[in-house]
Amino acid sequence: RRRWLQAAAVAGAGLLTGHASAAAERTIRLSHVVARDTPKGMALERFRALVEERSRGRIRVQIYPQGQLYGDHDEMQALQLGAVDMVAPSLSKFGPIGFPEFELFDLPFLFDSVEAVRSLTRGKVGHTLLQGLSRQRLMGLGFFDNGFKHMSANKPLLEPRDFAGLRMRIQGSRVIAQQMRAWGAVPVTLPFSETRRALETRVVDGTENPVSNFWTQGMQAVQSDLSLTAHGYLGYAVVTHQRFWENLPNADRRMVQEALDDALVFGNEIADAQNDKALAALHLTGAANIHNPSSAQTRLLQQASRPVHAELAARIGQDWLTKVQNALI
Ligand code: LMR
Repeated sequence: RRRWLQAAAVAGAGLLTGHASAAAERTIRLSHVVARDTPKGMALERFRALVEERSRGRIRVQIYPQGQLYGDHDEMQALQLGAVDMVAPSLSKFGPIGFPEFELFDLPFLFDSVEAVRSLTRGKVGHTLLQGLSRQRLMGLGFFDNGFKHMSANKPLLEPRDFAGLRMRIQGSRVIAQQMRAWGAVPVTLPFSETRRALETRVVDGTENPVSNFWTQGMQAVQSDLSLTAHGYLGYAVVTHQRFWENLPNADRRMVQEALDDALVFGNEIADAQNDKALAALHLTGAANIHNPSSAQTRLLQQASRPVHAELAARIGQDWLTKVQNALI
């Protein structure tokens, strides 16, 4: 209820400040959960600029960042209800709402590089995943990267025994829950917007995220140690509702899709740099102790991850995972 009131207030404020261009015929409302100066925030900002420029202000894109309108749990519902027109959740958020096949991206140590991820998302696997969203009348418009996740806590987390008994905040993906259990931790699913506070109040002991999310949420103030495990991938899909998409005139639909394609290319180009910048800032400020696992420690994490792959195969079918493995070669 509070969020609906906020939505109305934000829309009203936009009108009052003249923020809404008088010439705009249509507004695309886009909600996401991270800060503006993250790979996702910046890619979506580029999308806004391109749509507004190419439509000469006829189409306006209103972005609600930082979970200010909707958090992890309700943004998909808001899209279903038509309260927003586009969202860009991390791929780990699709499993809990009925698309468990997306959880393959969460498998620990499946990908060596973002290029390996792209060989999947740009091929048949990516196409099939986006097509599958039509089961809930959703339309997948494209994938884009953040990068690789690392572990944080108030101690180094470099090999399975370091995780014993720790309560680790995770996104609502069963694969990530299994990963934490396989390494000896207790997974606790929490929305992104509540994570920093949960770390601060010791509701949870640690979490995993790319450095850009860690830094822009100020997690270094509540976590003393960041371990550069690069154990899993974090990326996103931009999703709209068929009702919204089909309502767009053909020419606008093409323009919006092209603007998004260009924005996602830009997002992929800057993602590494944003993560590197955040890591440099952490080094510079000395705000967290940064650790690199040895290859022996990484091997121990990899070995302990095997049951996680087997469990997903049992859930979504070994066929699927074989297709994925083949596409990666
Ligand atoms: C998280 O919830 O941990 C992140 O994936 C948030 C995001 O969208 O980057």
